Amino acid sequence: MAEINRHSIVEADTYKTFAGLPPLVGLHTMQESTSKGLTVAESVARLKRLRWSLKRLHNIFVSRITAMPIYELKMAFSLHAHYCIEHAGAFAARIREMRQPPYGLEVSPDASLDLFFDEILSAPTVEALVLGLYNRAVPAVIRVLEHFLLDTNRLFDHPSYRVCRLTLVELQDVREYGDEAVRCLVTEQQRAALSEWLHLLDRALTAAGGIDGTASQDAATSGEAVVELQFSAVPYQYDPVPQRDERFHDPYNMGVNAEAMLFDPEIKPLPKTLMLYFKRMREIDVPEMMSSILAEERSKPWEYQRDMTRQLWDEARHAMMGEVGFVSLEVDWTKIPLNFTWSLGLNTMLTSKERHAVLYTIEQGLMPKKTGKEYEWEVAIATADPLAARIQDYDWADEVLHARIGREWLVPEIGSQVQALAFGDEAWSRTLADWAKWRDEGLTQHNNWWPDVYREACKHWGIEPDPHVLAYSKTYEETRADLKQVAS
Ligand SMILES: [Fe+2]
Ligand SMILES: [Fe+2]
Repeated sequence: MAEINRHSIVEADTYKTFAGLPPLVGLHTMQESTSKGLTVAESVARLKRLRWSLKRLHNIFVSRITAMPIYELKMAFSLHAHYCIEHAGAFAARIREMRQPPYGLEVSPDASLDLFFDEILSAPTVEALVLGLYNRAVPAVIRVLEHFLLDTNRLFDHPSYRVCRLTLVELQDVREYGDEAVRCLVTEQQRAALSEWLHLLDRALTAAGGIDGTASQDAATSGEAVVELQFSAVPYQYDPVPQRDERFHDPYNMGVNAEAMLFDPEIKPLPKTLMLYFKRMREIDVPEMMSSILAEERSKPWEYQRDMTRQLWDEARHAMMGEVGFVSLEVDWTKIPLNFTWSLGLNTMLTSKERHAVLYTIEQGLMPKKTGKEYEWEVAIATADPLAARIQDYDWADEVLHARIGREWLVPEIGSQVQALAFGDEAWSRTLADWAKWRDEGLTQHNNWWPDVYREACKHWGIEPDPHVLAYSKTYEETRADLKQVAS
């Protein structure tokens, strides 16, 4: 009898709350809450596959930063990797709350789903990569998140509902950017040439029953699902050699020592603005290097991946801060050799532990008051350019976090802070001994680009170049970026 009454109230929509307040805190109507929902097992099954997909996407984004040449896409991949790993963690945390041990989080849920991501990871061109990522994978994840929000009971399964909803917000940003990336980078002919491969991706996803495994798998039994590997037929190998697009030139040039100028008391703050922006934008090489650590250290815990990816994204932000700075001064940054010798040397000469130690040594070295990030911020304040000050303010805050990430993850691995710094210092020196060799081999003449760029900025500032500043010519031949002598 009570059951019948409950239904009649729901169906007649006559249920009354106090003063007509929204029922069920606005999550559902009574009608929805009585009729909707997944079992815990169904919810967990979908969440696990979503998490796996975000983890795979994260890995593709970080792995392809180094050797994919386009600067703007390197930056976008850094952000999109950060989103994916953050949300993957939220999914894992929710799954662990749902009474489903063993968790099986590190086991692939479906071979066809992996094939789908393997093919994208192995995409041989930028066009194939952006189509795979932004035209296929990201929209497929979004569709499944939208289904989840429609299917689950928002009251009973609210924590899952919330995780999916927050993930959707950022993935919609990723899709929006990705649509633009495809529009800007892929011609109709290129898309047509890749149509067979895109069809292969669709078949792999169909065979997997979609990202969440709930779509019809009829195709899987009809023979459609026998998907021939194309790009992943040869297993993907991370490419550690950084590539840059055509706006970048003279990548071995280490002819202008920015740090030596910043710390030169004879030089006034204003021209140092340019060196601050140069140092920021040169940080393109940090995501290029950290990509190699993340690509290799895939078995480290999620917290490590999260922290390192956050740092990778911060470094991409620092590069873009430098770009903003140059644009604000009407300086054409493409005239400046933003060298890649740091990422190249670390990625090809050192182990991932040594690379991380070099990064930590540099960042820990930026912590002392007089010689590091605080000093850079003071220089920026002294330039009286509020943009420079704002950039350095946030850069400093980020670097304090990065030094902490190194202390938390690297120092315990090596033993002590002193040992970690010595280890990093030694490894870094090993990568720097080639200054003269690069010149002798004709890779660069280490041209002094400073006077031209300084003159251009002076035009913007409406001042005459200072002859003493114009004559600046200190290189990195003998002095490292931390102003220590290069070991011979
Ligand atoms: Fe940085
Ligand atoms: Fe940093």
